[in-house]
Amino acid sequence: MSSPKKLFIKTYGCQMNVYDSERMAEALGGQGYVPTDSADDADMILLNTCHIREKAAEKVYSELGRFRPLKQAKPDLKIGVAGCVAQAEGAEIMARQPLVDLVVGPQSYHRLPELEAKARSEEKALDTEFPEEDKFDHLARRPKATRGPTAFLTVQEGCDKFCAFCVVPYTRGAEVSRPAEKVLDEARDLVERGVREITFLGQNVNAYHGHEGGLAGLIWALSDIDGLERIRFTTSHPNDMDDALIDAHGTCEKLMPYLHLPVQSGSDRILKRMNRKHTAEEYIRLIERLRAARPDLLLSGDFIVGFPEETDADFADTMALIETVGYGQAYSFKYSTRPGTPAAEREQVAEEVKDARLQQLQGLLKDQQRAAQDAMVGRTVKVLFEKPGRFDGQMVGKSEYLHAVHVEAAGLAPGDLKPVTITASNSNSLAGEL
Ligand code: SAH
Ligand code: SF4
Ligand code: F3S
Repeated sequence: MSSPKKLFIKTYGCQMNVYDSERMAEALGGQGYVPTDSADDADMILLNTCHIREKAAEKVYSELGRFRPLKQAKPDLKIGVAGCVAQAEGAEIMARQPLVDLVVGPQSYHRLPELEAKARSEEKALDTEFPEEDKFDHLARRPKATRGPTAFLTVQEGCDKFCAFCVVPYTRGAEVSRPAEKVLDEARDLVERGVREITFLGQNVNAYHGHEGGLAGLIWALSDIDGLERIRFTTSHPNDMDDALIDAHGTCEKLMPYLHLPVQSGSDRILKRMNRKHTAEEYIRLIERLRAARPDLLLSGDFIVGFPEETDADFADTMALIETVGYGQAYSFKYSTRPGTPAAEREQVAEEVKDARLQQLQGLLKDQQRAAQDAMVGRTVKVLFEKPGRFDGQMVGKSEYLHAVHVEAAGLAPGDLKPVTITASNSNSLAGEL
């Protein structure tokens, strides 16, 4: 019997890409590929890419260049580009980088087995269609092997919101919800394999409409699965946060008190130019309602500084919003011009202004993050343990609030869910005792 071929996948970008990479590995499993952690011994390398900011996209070309010696040493090695850069610039990648044998978009990767076969027969293979068929119906069934205690599960894809800065509606296509039964089947499968926490994923996951009652309905159905302990979802848009979902935060025990709800800016003028379709005030009212339902909710957000025409006063509004809301966690970015998006055509903010604003904003967010973490000391949280820590006898897991918690104790195993008293707050994690 020939030895199995090895597949190395490198994943960039959001959690949806993490999920897609798993499914790609499973799809190629049928072609005799087993995963490897090293590009050096791979027979196929796949880069699952992100197009959200210029830097993310540029990484792909520099990474590809690094594979040249590998390909020279092993002419049979196949190199593929998947994900959002593949979707946006597939043909250009093939032209610019002759090393690339295969390009596949985020909506057509169920066709990877055929594309791989084509690449093996020394033809270039490119598929960036948005096919009629549902890729999930054509993907290999997920194997029965046991796996770690947490899993992502994509339930919704694409976006119809067209924020003026964003490429996602172009790279991922129109908003589509997966049928609830298929999602729940996949969830039951995951739970049988040892998963105790599921995070529903979607570019606008709370726009999910594949179940009565929307995402809240799906969450309640998921919560009926025995053996599943925790539910999370990401990423949400403020305008799709309906009453049932707000209510679920207060009433659904398995739904964790953590919410990623990006606002991008605190200035109404900029929000309007961003096409976000809500005001700063409406966002703040929404947070109040969520906190009324679940007072200990830990909030996370995304911010863009230096969006075209952003003034000092607009930026001050963003800082004020952050002060008002108080985030436990957040991501912030300098605006990056993306070809083909409306904001790319507008008057740009100077790079050094963006730099200064980002630094100021990150300073505030870091203080808030630190304060939220420090406030955990002395409290007892529940930790779902995931893996051994760096030191002997140490295990790492996540609290309800998604803080990483390190515990030193004998006999802990991945998948254990235990009360832990927090004893210290370190730079990026907490320490605690059983
Ligand atoms: N669907 C999610 C976000 C997807 S993109 C939502 O609507 O919130 C993830 C984050 O990347 C965005 O929230 C935004 O903060 C950031 N982002 C998107 N396009 C960007 C751009 N052109 N420049 C800088 N940051 C960007
Ligand atoms: Fe992009 Fe806006 Fe859609 Fe989020 S809601 S994916 S930021 S267009
Ligand atoms: Fe990036 Fe595509 Fe996700 S652009 S953020 S990988 S949807």
